[in-house]
Amino acid sequence: MLVLGLETSCDETGVALYDSEQGLLADALFSQIDLHRVYGGVVPELASRDHVKRMLPLIRQVLDEAGRKAAQIEAVAYTAGPGLVGALLVGASCAQALALAWGVPAVGVHHMEGHLLAPMLEARPPAFPFVALLVSGGHTQLVRVDGIGQYELLGESVDDAAGEAFDKTAKLMGLRYPGGPEIARLAEQGTPGRFVFPRPMTDRPGLDFSFSGLKTFTLNTWQQCRAAGDESEQTRCDIALAFQQAVVETLTIKCRRALKQTGLKSLVIAGGVSANQSLRQSLEKMLGELKGQVFYARPRFCTDNGAMIAYAGCQRLLAGQRDGPAITVQPRWSMETLPSLKLAAV
Ligand SMILES: Nc1ncnc2c1ncn2[C@@H]1O[C@H](COP(=O)(O)OP(=O)(O)OP(=O)(O)O)[C@@H](O)[C@H]1O
Ligand SMILES: [Mg+2]
Repeated sequence: MLVLGLETSCDETGVALYDSEQGLLADALFSQIDLHRVYGGVVPELASRDHVKRMLPLIRQVLDEAGRKAAQIEAVAYTAGPGLVGALLVGASCAQALALAWGVPAVGVHHMEGHLLAPMLEARPPAFPFVALLVSGGHTQLVRVDGIGQYELLGESVDDAAGEAFDKTAKLMGLRYPGGPEIARLAEQGTPGRFVFPRPMTDRPGLDFSFSGLKTFTLNTWQQCRAAGDESEQTRCDIALAFQQAVVETLTIKCRRALKQTGLKSLVIAGGVSANQSLRQSLEKMLGELKGQVFYARPRFCTDNGAMIAYAGCQRLLAGQRDGPAITVQPRWSMETLPSLKLAAV
């Protein structure tokens, strides 16, 4: 089945063509980062308008790259939530309109299920069951995954998501948006041990996270340095390293706990923060000690992209799932409410 996938949940327009027999044929992305950077974060109305502008040229681009014609597309998958309502509606309307015009089915995909399944596009995909750590701009969740649509939430952030904490912390220190890659870049030059930040909620049992206090701790440290007349680049790097190490160690401790609790040995990491090299290394080391394995997607499939939506949508379409023609999106949507693929197939 040849599936066109559309992603528009936030500030990236992602389009891809995935074939159930041949795999990923083409994918294209337009990132709106430059559009929003001047505001220090995503402006929803600007995001929606830009998705409208980018969608059709990107669809033409992937068709050209894959050497396919629109008439060959057998289904359309789109992100139906969670995300910014206006941005989601652009992708949903476009997908439903194209599906109607082409006389093919459409399916709405859960954005976090897309992230979760992105490592399936790699040469060495994970096998079910596994524990997934979803770490993105809007989510930090630990999930037990027994199959597609078989999700048990083990823990999540009670305040800021990990990516959000990277972004807000970077902003406090006058760094560019998005903050994750900026902090990671500065951390490479940081002096280990100059600052040590807390590992939130690791001293008590449970699998929930909290990153908002860490952000405040970082701000206080930065302000103390500035008050003492030290605004040097090296100090920024040292603070970035201490912050990154605190986030990475906290996530690693909770992943180890989740693996122990479930008795599983496979860990999948997905979402924008899973592109972080320090996090990958820390989890590789931990899984090495446990004689388990960690799986992740190539960096450009960690952040938002159309390929993960085309892949997840294809699995659901093959199981018989369909949505529409009504255009509905869900800005807030729990992954645990998704139908299991086994159930959808019967
Ligand atoms: N190398 C990195 N290190 C740390 N964080 C990173 C890195 N690369 C990207 N990020 C962070 O990843 C986030 C973006 O990821 P993603 O696109 O998955 O999130 P989102 O789509 O905004 O949120 P959600 O998927 O929860 O709706 C940003 O917060 C960004 O700072
Ligand atoms: Mg995302």
